[in-house]
Amino acid sequence: MGAEMRINCWIRVAILGFICLSPWLCLANAKSRGHGHGNPHPHQSGCGYIYEGSWVRDESYPLYDSSKCPHIQKEFDCLKYGRSDHEYLKYRWKPKSCDLPRFDGKRFLTKFKGKQIMFIGDSISLNQWQSLICMLHSSDPGLKILEQGRSPTTNYTFQGYDVSVIVYHSTHLVDIVNEQNGRILKLDSIQNGELWKQMDVLVFNTWLWWYRDGPKQPWDYIQTGNKIVKDMDRMEAFKIGLTTWAKWVNTEVDTQKTKVFFQGISPQHYHGSDWNKPEVRNCAQETSPISGSTYSTGWTRPSYVLQDVLKTVTKPVKLLDITTLSQLRKDAHPSSYNAFKGMDCTHWVRPKRGPVKPRWPDQAAQADCLADLLDR
Ligand SMILES: *[C@@H]1O[C@H](CO)[C@@H](O)[C@H](O)[C@H]1NC(C)=O
Repeated sequence: MGAEMRINCWIRVAILGFICLSPWLCLANAKSRGHGHGNPHPHQSGCGYIYEGSWVRDESYPLYDSSKCPHIQKEFDCLKYGRSDHEYLKYRWKPKSCDLPRFDGKRFLTKFKGKQIMFIGDSISLNQWQSLICMLHSSDPGLKILEQGRSPTTNYTFQGYDVSVIVYHSTHLVDIVNEQNGRILKLDSIQNGELWKQMDVLVFNTWLWWYRDGPKQPWDYIQTGNKIVKDMDRMEAFKIGLTTWAKWVNTEVDTQKTKVFFQGISPQHYHGSDWNKPEVRNCAQETSPISGSTYSTGWTRPSYVLQDVLKTVTKPVKLLDITTLSQLRKDAHPSSYNAFKGMDCTHWVRPKRGPVKPRWPDQAAQADCLADLLDR
């Protein structure tokens, strides 16, 4: 299977049924306008740190049937999930001291009329981007979407509203450049920023590729300044690269115009010892989230590196702190229900086409806060 197809498959595999991903985007809001689930009268009481909470079962879920989203479905039919459990669709993120409002696609589109929103990063960003496209699509399935561009820039514009939701593929955020002696990962260079900074909203994400080696490593050498090395401590490289990104934000981005977000590190589930099943090596048998609000391992190192680097950003940048709430979702990965027969406990699944009852048109995602979040 070609790389392109693979990516497309991933897109499809990855569309989490808005179980996990929407809150990733939405969570930062509830603080100011948290109100009861389904409560038509929002009140202003504080919500505390909305990333702290737990997954609660909600019979009204799923609110959205992702198989109805043509923007994922039509291109390739390479996925035959076969996942028969559907419990994992039934959970909603519940912050400790409030309920998140539900996502309202039409309101979002109205609010972002004429704006461009760009996700920049690896396949996890693709997850996010596709989720948002489908959430918006579901709010008005008749809406025309203009699909333009190709990797690294894929641009979907919701006509009538003129809202562009764009994904920019970048594994490391910093550059990888083909030179005579090979592919060089340039830890101190961001050449693509000129396009990025024209956007109204930027949502960054990176980590997955920093520790890869062997055939999956997309570079041959690492360069910082004039120094070129064959390899180095990856966490150190990650920190240098992120710091380059931070400096780029500090010097290049007009945050009056462009709102900047960084997604917290997306966790994987390959170690059952993390959830009391030491004999388990993947997420294949997992059908429900971890209850409670803590994960045994806590944050892993890259989250701390990211946190440290974000402290060096002098401009307003918001961390979408979804690491812990995602750690709790060991059940929300594609596992083996993907086209490659491989075990994927990295990306986030979307529901299988099938017996999941669509609740059309009330199928929007579980949180209504992305707009507000992005609007700050
Ligand atoms: C996305 O498409 C819209 C509509 O054609 C266009 O106005 C906008 O400039 C495009 N943005 C990017 C980054 O390609």
